[in-house]
Amino acid sequence: MKKFTSEALRELYLKFFESKGHKIIPSSSLIPENDPTVLFTTAGMHPLVPYLLGEKHPAGTKLCDVQKCVRTGDIDEVGDSSHCTFFEMLGNWSLGDYFKQEMIPWSFEFLTSEDYLGIPVEDIAVTCFAGDKDCPKDEESARLWKECGILPGNIYYLPKSGNWWGPAGTTGPCGPDTEMHIIRNHAEADKLGEYDFDNAPAGTFLEIWNDVFMQYNKNAEGGYEPLKQRNVDTGMGLERTLCILNGKSSVYETDIFEGAISEIEKLTGRRYGENEETTRAFRVVLDHVRTATFMLGDTKGIVPSNTDQGYILRRIIRRAVRFGRNINLPLGSLGSISKIFVNKYGSVYPELIINAGKIEEELCKEENKFSKTLQQGLREFEKIAAALPCGGEIDGVTAFHLYDTYGFPVEITGEMAREKGLTVDVGGYETAFAEHQAKSRAGSEQKFACGLADHKEETTKLHTATHLLHAALKIVCSPEVEQKGSNITEERLRFDFNFARKLTPDEVAEVERLVNEQIKLDIPVVMKEMSLEEAKDEGFTGLFESKYGQTVKTYSIGSFSREICGGPHVESTGVLGRFKIAKQENVSAGVKRIKAVLE
Ligand code: ALA
Repeated sequence: MKKFTSEALRELYLKFFESKGHKIIPSSSLIPENDPTVLFTTAGMHPLVPYLLGEKHPAGTKLCDVQKCVRTGDIDEVGDSSHCTFFEMLGNWSLGDYFKQEMIPWSFEFLTSEDYLGIPVEDIAVTCFAGDKDCPKDEESARLWKECGILPGNIYYLPKSGNWWGPAGTTGPCGPDTEMHIIRNHAEADKLGEYDFDNAPAGTFLEIWNDVFMQYNKNAEGGYEPLKQRNVDTGMGLERTLCILNGKSSVYETDIFEGAISEIEKLTGRRYGENEETTRAFRVVLDHVRTATFMLGDTKGIVPSNTDQGYILRRIIRRAVRFGRNINLPLGSLGSISKIFVNKYGSVYPELIINAGKIEEELCKEENKFSKTLQQGLREFEKIAAALPCGGEIDGVTAFHLYDTYGFPVEITGEMAREKGLTVDVGGYETAFAEHQAKSRAGSEQKFACGLADHKEETTKLHTATHLLHAALKIVCSPEVEQKGSNITEERLRFDFNFARKLTPDEVAEVERLVNEQIKLDIPVVMKEMSLEEAKDEGFTGLFESKYGQTVKTYSIGSFSREICGGPHVESTGVLGRFKIAKQENVSAGVKRIKAVLE
């Protein structure tokens, strides 16, 4: 098979779809816009949900991109050969435009043509939806694959559990999909009937791409209604595909991690691959520093904290420090490892270069803080041990508490216990661990699921109120005020902005008065599409994160507010009700947060 670097694969994918009439759009932020139910962007389609549901996308109906994604549900498994908390998803979309008839031949061409991936046809297997009461068997996809040249014996059918994609369990856009796999073991693959795909021994097939034919909306009653428009949503994991194409046994052995591995080897004097334990520690540090780099360097950058995204970031950095100790990674090393990632990705994600200083500084601060927690953890252990009789056992929940709160691996707790003539209930620890993992997985799926399509009336109203608040803060506080983050639920809006101090009671009253004045005047909210340059010239504010995104949507509320924004908004401000600031908070030295409601 042909070999590729990460740079080449990204470019080739985008070039291919550009040649098929797609507009390349930039990656959205890792922090979802206006979606309180999910902490991070978890798939390429996530930021596009409003458009999959029918809203018009300014770049048109055929799009492609490389999207930054974070999934932390399996964080405890990072360290094996395949799990990563950060990944990039190559994707292309039809928003009510082309469908199976175009998509399947394009997938075939990209996978097999010598100009692109050049994978031999006989090494490709595909799976299609087997059909059930909600949706018929996808014979059309199977026929299209056959017409392209996929061998009939390499076409399999799977039920919803395997060939259906959409929000897990609850509502949202969804549909049957067809997945493409590389056959790694022909002898095993040849034994399988067309419904036996799932019975193949592990490693027989490696999944490489997924084409979702989104044509239903799953409603709250569990029914499947046809969507207004039929869409295509595809996803190809960059790291995974690189690993497969280059014949590597682990994603950590692709070019993405090469530079950072050398850096860790230099810092520790250890070698990646020297033994299992070292390899695992290297991988955890590699993955976690990369994820932290992208979180800290995001256009809506976050910092370590005890809630929401900030908490996940904190956990990731601390886990990197803990595993770093296993390979004698000196304190203060995470910054220099992150620099390697900033350089590796800087041309694709310029925000990393812009925020390089912040990334290094925050990593260093958190590393220092954690060294103090480690000390506390040791003290906690001493207390636990002192309370037990000689020969006693540290129960599983306590061992898990030492792991989860202070970052003590159960093996270390076990060693320390032995020195004191104690034992650890490792089975109990594993149960506590599994329970915790099941809870966090269920949590993240649920969060992703119900957050897909929050176009509810109340949320939309608060979204428009956020624009008014932003404009009022510019008048009352400073014209320099800019949005640093926003999060909207049905109940309240949350707006982060750069300002050195909290607002005085008079300033709060004035902001409220200005916003309520605009509401009383019942000003129409006007949407206009224009080029990014025009929008900037006309004084629209917004996150200018795009070098490709030529056409943008702008929303004006009279001359009071002018923002670049994806929408949706109310038609006129009169429907908002009464605006009230409920709370002010300190996010960091230069960033303040306002929570506000509509009464
Ligand atoms: N949204 C689909 C996936 O994530 C393409 O696999």
